[in-house]
Parts: sequence; structure tokens; C-alpha cells
Amino acid sequence: MSADRLAQLQQAIDKRSAEQLLRTPVTLQHYNGRLLSVAGTPYLNFSGNDYLGLATEPEVLQAYADGARDFGAGSTGSPLVTGQHQVHARLCDTLCDWLGTEQVMLFSSGFAANQTMLQTLAQKADTLVLDKLSHASLIDGALHSDAVLKRFAHNDIAQLEMILQQTAQPLVVTEGIFSMDGDSPNLRTMQALCQQFNAPLLLDDAHGLGVTGPDGKGSAAAQGIAATELFCLMANFGKALGVGGAFIGGSKTVIDYLTQFGRHYVYSTALSPALCAAVIKSIELCRSQQWRRDKLQSNIALFRHLAEDLALLKSESAIQGVVLGSSERALAVSQQLKAAGFWLSAIRSPTVPKGSERLRITLSAQHTEYDIKQLVQQLRQLI
Ligand SMILES: Cc1ncc(COP(=O)(O)O)c(C=O)c1O
Repeated sequence: MSADRLAQLQQAIDKRSAEQLLRTPVTLQHYNGRLLSVAGTPYLNFSGNDYLGLATEPEVLQAYADGARDFGAGSTGSPLVTGQHQVHARLCDTLCDWLGTEQVMLFSSGFAANQTMLQTLAQKADTLVLDKLSHASLIDGALHSDAVLKRFAHNDIAQLEMILQQTAQPLVVTEGIFSMDGDSPNLRTMQALCQQFNAPLLLDDAHGLGVTGPDGKGSAAAQGIAATELFCLMANFGKALGVGGAFIGGSKTVIDYLTQFGRHYVYSTALSPALCAAVIKSIELCRSQQWRRDKLQSNIALFRHLAEDLALLKSESAIQGVVLGSSERALAVSQQLKAAGFWLSAIRSPTVPKGSERLRITLSAQHTEYDIKQLVQQLRQLI
């Protein structure tokens, strides 16, 4: 019986492999943001989410070490038992002060936070209305909830409005910056629409926090929306802040409710206190060092200017996609780029819809002009 089951699993793996869709974890020997090395070979890194270069910032590393010394390496319990230390509370206060949200709660990952947000807040009579390109964690959260799931075409406000007209108890879910396309919805219009239809707006700003908006407050602030106008804001600490973990922000009632009923929160070991200390330092640097955002913006502008003839997706963010149309082609070009010393990923289905397989280029404040010019030159030769 178990041999049959193993054979079934192997068949699924072999099928993926035959379709050139096999995924394998890559072990980095060395990483410093701009450069990484794999199996003894150094590469220019155009594939990470360390948009501001904070993952290797010495002050953040020092805060991590100090946090471990002062509070311990692990939290040793769930937040409602013995896992909540002073430094967790300080991180929550720091987030509220930075973002202007009333209350926040912490999670070990953005995936867990999104699961909790959708699964716990959406009730049986509700309909979760998600963008077609929503992150897997949002889709899974919606599927695990008791609510009905409806999807609208990517960033299509007119279609969202049509759905809202036909739906009794909608909750609308979108992202500040979409992880594969790098583009953003018109949050202002969406927020007004949600208000008109009495629909709570839930925002995943994993790729916007730290990189956009005044003080790096993220996508809502960048479009003039106060955190209190959102029903819920989720963002993680593992991208621009360079560390790991996540939070959900909202009104006291929303966070109190999730604290009671959010199973990923109640039944999971709290974030490491050392990590919380590192995130606090990272937020401090993110807020005070505007030059990191400025450098990132000038790198994005340079890349888009140099590569404008390369059929780029429409994106003003650090995530830039070049659609190649098939897994084989995306994989072949990314391998040729690796041979030339550039590390960037081929994004294949099912991560993106079939036919939109692409190269996903992520830019960072650490890239130099020369790095970007070299990359574009290589891309032009290969595409
Ligand atoms: C849009 C979006 N939401 C949520 C997540 C999940 O966050 P985490 O990596 O912290 O689990 C990601 C990360 O890949 C993401 O891109």
C-alpha cells in the first residue's frame, strides 16, 4: 500500500520534471545582497526581495545578536502562553507608531498571517473577492475559510464593481504590489468602492512595506490612504526589512478577534525574540535612511529606461518581469544568464498563468549602475 502511494508521488514529480517545471532549492554558500555564490561560483543577484539591502546591514546583525543575548534565541511558546516577550510588545508599538494602525499582532510568516486573516475573518455568509493574481497564501486562506470565493480580473476595478453589485456580504482582498507582475491596483478607487458597498478592504503589502510611501509606510500611504481606512493590513518582515516574520494590523476589535480565533496565532510558537530585535532596528533604519528608497527608485528608473525595448511588464516597482511565453524559454534564458554570471529566476506555471512564463528581475538599492547596464546588455543579447 505504501509502495503504491510512493509510486504515485514519484509519478507526479516525474511529470513535473518532464514538463520542465521541477523546482529545486538552491543552497547559497555566500550572500551579501548584491552578490551571491552557489557551488563556488559568484553571481550578481537579481532575484531577491532584499530591496533596501537591510538583510546584511551590520546594525541589524548586531541588534539580532544583542536580542538573542538579552531575550533568548527562541520564544519558547505560543504568544498566549510564554512566547510573548517585552521585545515583541516593543515591535508591535514600533509598527503602530510607524504605520498609524491601531493595533498589530505578529506571525512567524506572511503565509501564516494571510491564512489567519482570510480564514478567520470571513464567515459562512460572506464572499471573499480576490484579484486573479493573488498570492498563493491568500488563495489558500480563502479556500480554507467558510466563505464563497470570487475572483476579479487583475486590477480590474470595473469587474470588481460588477461583483460587488451582485454580492451580499463581500470582503475585498488585494495586494499593494503584486509579487509576480510588480504592478499596483488603484487603491484609492478601490477603497472608495469598498466604502460604497460596505465591503471591508484587506491589503497584503508584502512588497510595498519599506519601499514605497512616505517614510516607507507602504502602498496605501503612497496612494494617500491612512492605515485606519483599511480593515486589515498584512505585511511581512522578510522582504524590504530583510529579516523574517509578519504582522497583521487593524482596529483593536479586529486584532482582539484574531487573537481569540486565529488558529495560526493561538497554536503556533511566537516569533524569535532575537528576530524581533533585528526587525525593530531594521524599521528604524528603513524610516530614517530615505537614501535607500531613493537609490532603489533611481535603479528602477535606470533599468526601465535601458530596457524599454524588451517587452517589460508595466511596473514601477522593484519587481520587473520580462514575459517569454513558455517554461522552456524562460528556463533556457535564465540558465544562459547564470552562465554569464547573473542570478535571476525563471517563473513558470503554476506560479504564473500558462503562456506568461517569464524572467522575474528584482532590483535593490545595492545594485550599481554598472550592474544594471551589464544585465540589460546580456538580456538584449539573449532575448
Ligand atoms: C504577496 C505576498 N504575500 C505573502 C507572502 C508570504 O510571506 P512570507 O514569505 O513571509 O511567508 C509573500 C512571499 O512570498 C508574498 O509575495
